[in-house]
Amino acid sequence: MSLKEKLAQIQAEAIESMLSAADPDVLNDIRVRFLGKKGLLTEASKGMKDVPAEERPKMGQLVNDTKKAIEETLEKRKSALMAAVREKKMAAETIDVTMPGRKSAIGHRHPLTLATEEVERIFIGMGYEVIEGPEVEYDYYNFEALNIPPNHPAKDEQDTFYINPQILLRTQTSSCQVHAMERGKVPFKVVAPGRVFRSDEVDATHSPNFHQFEGMIVDKDITFSDLKGTLEQFAIELFGPDTKVKFRPHHFPFTEPSAEMDVSCFKCGGKGCRFCKGEGWIEILGCGMVHPKVLKMSGIDPDEYSGFALGVGLERIALLKYEIDDMRLLYENDIRFLKQF
Ligand code: DAH
Repeated sequence: MSLKEKLAQIQAEAIESMLSAADPDVLNDIRVRFLGKKGLLTEASKGMKDVPAEERPKMGQLVNDTKKAIEETLEKRKSALMAAVREKKMAAETIDVTMPGRKSAIGHRHPLTLATEEVERIFIGMGYEVIEGPEVEYDYYNFEALNIPPNHPAKDEQDTFYINPQILLRTQTSSCQVHAMERGKVPFKVVAPGRVFRSDEVDATHSPNFHQFEGMIVDKDITFSDLKGTLEQFAIELFGPDTKVKFRPHHFPFTEPSAEMDVSCFKCGGKGCRFCKGEGWIEILGCGMVHPKVLKMSGIDPDEYSGFALGVGLERIALLKYEIDDMRLLYENDIRFLKQF
């Protein structure tokens, strides 16, 4: 075979195998096989020495042309294969921004938290400041300063967890009244939500650990009318615009006079139903005019200042508002129950 024929054969073979190469690595092997230092083209060029001198320039040109033709195809094929690789990678890494997102579970507010926040919102709207007091409390703040002296029957009513004779778990958020008065800033309007403790048996309406919400205002010329107006507004905001309120005389050691407030049943509007046990009214809080002795014990002159206070059970509000019939559901933390709020 003449050199010319050999070159033609190499060119044809090289181009054909390059065009059928499926990826850049295979293509590189082909390059080495044809154009490498020990490649087929280099081998073939060694035949130049047998070419007659006058034909050498022509043959030299032919070798160059063959090399150039192979290189050109090589370059074209290389960029085509690289583009294919890039495209494949891009397709694999594509992000479909129109796909619906994955929803992460963010939980729900507990009905007790909802009730607390709702009551807070109403009082904040009337200019009250939210304060907190300690759950582990001195007997003084929980009883004594609230006009409940040693041996007072109210101490038995609220079965108390004592830590030692002076220190206890507070049985009522009324202890926060004393802390508020002791700050020495009069006038003031405060509310204090929080946990309270009594050694009660667990049932549908009792728990040894529940929550109360205390409110107190002290200023000049506060009267029972202020109490009624404020608490009526509270009831309307909590249970709706048609809510009626009723005050019944009661007794609390730290208020005089004292009352309990009922709201008209928001289920039946007062006609009487299963929800209000046929009464038409639902008891929701205790309240009264702060006892002069209580003001005095905390350093406030009862001749100059007066005030009213109220105490609400937050579980009771949550049960009523969300129509839950057993308080224990609030503490079991069953996700299926909590998800409804
Ligand atoms: N501390 C009372 C209780 O636990 C509730 C209460 C009644 C609070 C009347 C008050 C109030 O501030 O004025 O039963």
